Amino acid sequence: MSFTVAKLTPVPPGNTQDRFFARAGTAGMPAIVSGRGSILIDDRGRELIDACSGPFLASLGQGNERVLQAMLAQGRELTYTYSRTTRHRANAALTGRLAAIAGPGFECAHLTSGGSEANEMALKMLRARAVSRGERRRFRVISLMPGYHGATVQTLGMNGDIGVSGLWGPLTVEAERIPAPLTFRAASPKAAADSSIEALHAAIERLGPETILAVVMEPVGGQASGVNVPDPSFAPRVRRACDAFGIGLIFDEIVTAFRTGEYLAAHHDPQATPDLITLAKGLGAGYAPLGAVLAPRTLADELADSIGFAVSHSYDACPMACAAGSAVLDEIVEHDLVAHASRIGATLRSGLRELAARFPLIGDVRGRGALLAIELVSDPATKGKFPPEADPGARIVQMALDHGLLLYSRRQNRGMFGDWLLLAPPLNIEEALAAAILDRLAAVIARAQDELL
Ligand SMILES: Cc1ncc(COP(=O)(O)O)c(C=O)c1O
Repeated sequence: MSFTVAKLTPVPPGNTQDRFFARAGTAGMPAIVSGRGSILIDDRGRELIDACSGPFLASLGQGNERVLQAMLAQGRELTYTYSRTTRHRANAALTGRLAAIAGPGFECAHLTSGGSEANEMALKMLRARAVSRGERRRFRVISLMPGYHGATVQTLGMNGDIGVSGLWGPLTVEAERIPAPLTFRAASPKAAADSSIEALHAAIERLGPETILAVVMEPVGGQASGVNVPDPSFAPRVRRACDAFGIGLIFDEIVTAFRTGEYLAAHHDPQATPDLITLAKGLGAGYAPLGAVLAPRTLADELADSIGFAVSHSYDACPMACAAGSAVLDEIVEHDLVAHASRIGATLRSGLRELAARFPLIGDVRGRGALLAIELVSDPATKGKFPPEADPGARIVQMALDHGLLLYSRRQNRGMFGDWLLLAPPLNIEEALAAAILDRLAAVIARAQDELL
């Protein structure tokens, strides 16, 4: 398959990536001029398969006509009205749709403009409930290291990132981080889960159970852990620990929703149902900034009947975003994209395993459904990590552009927990393009291995 077209007019520098990002990191950043389906085209004429839907986000690819038409129709009928002072149909339609998809225990949805906001909103709900119950001392949060929950001041404090304290420490209320149950270098996935659970109990005891508001976790990891899939015993044990001490459990499903073979990762195990689920990314799918907190009716009623929960942002539940979200869900449900993505994920996974057998640079292939990662190792025999000053993922992302592939890798913790490339294509990607991802990746890894090993 050819992947270059004629050169296009260059895109001038602009916005934060050119004005504020560290210069070393932006030199080779492509300028995207257009897109169709799962393909993006840059101003050098390169046709790039969007192998991670941007940052796990553009889950329907580019230019989905149903979503665009729904937004246009909504804008013509009602462009904006403030959700704090008015009701509107698009809000009711989307929140109803979300409740139906999420199922029992998640009858109510509070809409936001993105993932960090949704995570903060979830914390605020639990805090408001604690205060309404007279539990004013409950404010501490426990999260996983590594982990990622956002970039607002509060969510930065929840991130499992060693850089947080030095840079943001004085501004944010930092969470207590316990080791994430990382499987790759552990004796076994179960052993990793055991030591995380031990650390959780120790943290609860150390901080005092009556001070802990919430445990926040990604049920399957995203960029921060290279899609770590915990041992199945992990989440139910976290649930039990939370139950024992009246602690709220929040699943951050901002990356996992619609991708792991079920609508929600929480659907995989009824023994580990969280109190709240946060969504974003693939819900707006790039058509509108949109997030949500899914909550049980009992929690919403308890708040509404006591102190109330009237925290809002001006764009919450704005009609255009609601229309986009409902149309995205229509596409996912009607085309059974959760199942389609799972099949594509299985194809990708077995292709990645074949690559791992050929290339020692690939130390691990992991993931669930259409949420996958390959871990890069400096030495396969020892599962060696790359040094803090290296950034092999960024190097490979650069190389991949010349092979018609837009990959995603965002190094965190200076490689302390490893380096990886993330693969999470649009849920509706065609099988031929998924096969092309594997072909192109093989060429990229062959080249990268020569350079990096
Ligand atoms: C797991 C997870 N949670 C939260 C967020 C924050 O979402 P947003 O960038 O929409 O604020 C992200 C973004 O990368 C994420 O990966």
